[in-house]
Amino acid sequence: MMSETAQFYETFPFPSPDIESSLINEIAEEIPLIRSNPDLSGLRVLEAGCGTGHYLVGMALRYPKASFLGVDLSNQSLAVARRLAQRHGANNIEFLKASIPELALSIEYDLITCIGVLHHLPDPRAGLRALADHLAPKGHMLLWFYHSLGEHGRMLDRELVLLLTSGEDVRSGMDTVRALGLRHSLARYGYPWEGWTEAGFSPVEQEARDADAYLNPIVRPFRFAELPALFEGSGLDWVALHRVYSSTGIRLPDLDGVAPEVPGALSVEDLFADETLRSRLRRMSRAQQTLALELRLRPTGFALVAGRPGGLPDCLPRIRHNLLLG
Ligand SMILES: C[S@@+](CC[C@H](N)C(=O)[O-])C[C@H]1O[C@@H](n2cnc3c(N)ncnc32)[C@H](O)[C@@H]1O
Repeated sequence: MMSETAQFYETFPFPSPDIESSLINEIAEEIPLIRSNPDLSGLRVLEAGCGTGHYLVGMALRYPKASFLGVDLSNQSLAVARRLAQRHGANNIEFLKASIPELALSIEYDLITCIGVLHHLPDPRAGLRALADHLAPKGHMLLWFYHSLGEHGRMLDRELVLLLTSGEDVRSGMDTVRALGLRHSLARYGYPWEGWTEAGFSPVEQEARDADAYLNPIVRPFRFAELPALFEGSGLDWVALHRVYSSTGIRLPDLDGVAPEVPGALSVEDLFADETLRSRLRRMSRAQQTLALELRLRPTGFALVAGRPGGLPDCLPRIRHNLLLG
């Protein structure tokens, strides 16, 4: 039987059912902020939960000499993604319908990206383990999650929408979203960044985002202190904080201040102007520092980079110094 999540994404493919929607180049642009060698030529990339492929096709066009696999459990999303790849002539992508926890491929991947997916799984740990099983020893994993602090209000709005829609057809949920005057905004995550903004979203793109925000059957945001339990037994040896999203902007944590030249770099010192507070923060453990960071910024989302020991030396110093685990 089809899971509730699969049914949901059959009705509301994300981020857009429209192959005329702009590609999203964000992951493609993040690679040089993570890897010391940003050239992916000859490498294998798995995009787990690729949805309608607007990120994936952007990445595949940017790295034409890498090969890509897009996996998703929604037929409708994959159908859009295939047409999108064709429309843009991205012939270095294959697609596979599969559920992440049951993924059983004979190939290991040099890069696995999983953006906004694991927090929609009934068991995010099982999903993470399955992805880790497919990561090459020197590979990198890029993961994106909702953060509980900044998403608290939206989670309550979603709960109200689901309560008022209970027993109704999922499509009628959109009427409830409209009746409550809810509209999801990218500004919550600090956009525009590199010019990407919802100003140009068509009604169908906005609907896909509103549905994803308020009608999703499973959403499980995280706080940083919950990450050890999430990664325990995953087979990943280290986890680094890469980006933090909030209504005040997208920041690139640089906890030890080793890469001040990176646009949006945020050292722990930058959290407070007051020198006494800064010096207290300097003496704290990494867990306390990241707790201070989330309490100060109240993020809506965050991105992590993770891997096995062989992958860490190939990361830029900012990532190597941002270890939360390992
Ligand atoms: C919020 S969308 C993110 C899509 C894409 N990563 C992006 O950021 O644009 C979540 C996606 O995860 C997919 N998904 C959810 N559970 C999954 C599972 N168990 N296995 C594979 N894909 C899954 C959904 O079908 C949906 O396309």
